[in-house]
Amino acid sequence: MSYNLLKGKRGLIFGALNEKSIGWKIAEKAYEEGASFVLTNTPVSMRLGQINELAEKCNTIVIPADATKVSDLDNLVEKATNHLNGNFDFVLHSIGMSPNVRKGRTYDDLDYNLLSQTLDISAISLHKILQTCRKRDAINEWGSVVALTYVAAQRTLYGYNDMADAKALLESIVRSFGYIYGREKNIRINTVSQSPTVTTAGSGIMGFDNLMDFADRMSPLGNASAEECANYVVVLFSDLTRKVTMQNLYHDGGYSSMGMSFKAMNIYNEGLEYEDVKNDKSHK
Ligand SMILES: NC(=O)c1ccc[n+]([C@@H]2O[C@H](COP(=O)([O-])OP(=O)(O)OC[C@H]3O[C@@H](n4cnc5c(N)ncnc54)[C@H](O)[C@@H]3O)[C@@H](O)[C@H]2O)c1
Repeated sequence: MSYNLLKGKRGLIFGALNEKSIGWKIAEKAYEEGASFVLTNTPVSMRLGQINELAEKCNTIVIPADATKVSDLDNLVEKATNHLNGNFDFVLHSIGMSPNVRKGRTYDDLDYNLLSQTLDISAISLHKILQTCRKRDAINEWGSVVALTYVAAQRTLYGYNDMADAKALLESIVRSFGYIYGREKNIRINTVSQSPTVTTAGSGIMGFDNLMDFADRMSPLGNASAEECANYVVVLFSDLTRKVTMQNLYHDGGYSSMGMSFKAMNIYNEGLEYEDVKNDKSHK
């Protein structure tokens, strides 16, 4: 069901690789809600993924750009605004990758060149996008920028590695640039902290299946899916959230406020199932 929340709005969407990508679901939803936008990803991802199919579905084009390269971003912003015949009302940063994780380097044995790449790809790219857009004055008054993040920025989670540091930096950039862009042009910038989700990037995390299961048990509403994330992000792009800025917004079924749940504790209670006790008030 469409509410026309983004009718007449123009945007730029980073990070749709394949149909599992959170960025893919957000693009589909934004299109459904009446937006027009340009899609972008790295040339390699364009070859490996299916972004051209998405572009066809959403009646748009893909402009290649490596988000760590300012010259690529400059070209992207110029071409995208020309294509859309106007500036952006929303920008999605759905980019994350750790070469240390890819190469199996643990947090106490990081390769520092790879750490620089993790930070550049997963966090500083947001700064580069914002700075490029600001220099070209490419985001409209009351525009909305959203970047995706994970609770590992606040709490230590086994196996998340240097991506935790990247997410902490990403969330800091949101606050620092949010102040500048907010005071100058009423542009809001937020992060959405999403539940673990089965995607190419997500599945790279060590022990991902167990992490998904644990998060689901801990969250009173259960893990949030990529589609549910798309619904939330579309509202953040809409005019209904104009005064929300510089925030890290949890979209995680309640996980981040929990300490221990019955369903998680139950892992240690062999033979005792949630169904057995859910009507027993002494267990709530
Ligand atoms: N999957 C999860 O469990 C989860 C949970 C919370 C937050 N997130 C975040 O959501 C975002 C999207 O990830 P996803 O889970 O959809 O996985 P994904 O692998 O589908 O998306 C990651 C994207 O980053 C792009 N990318 C990598 N390097 C790039 C570069 N140099 N320039 C431009 N793009 C580049 C990839 O091509 C890909 O499209 C990431 O920021 C991720 O950290 C994911």
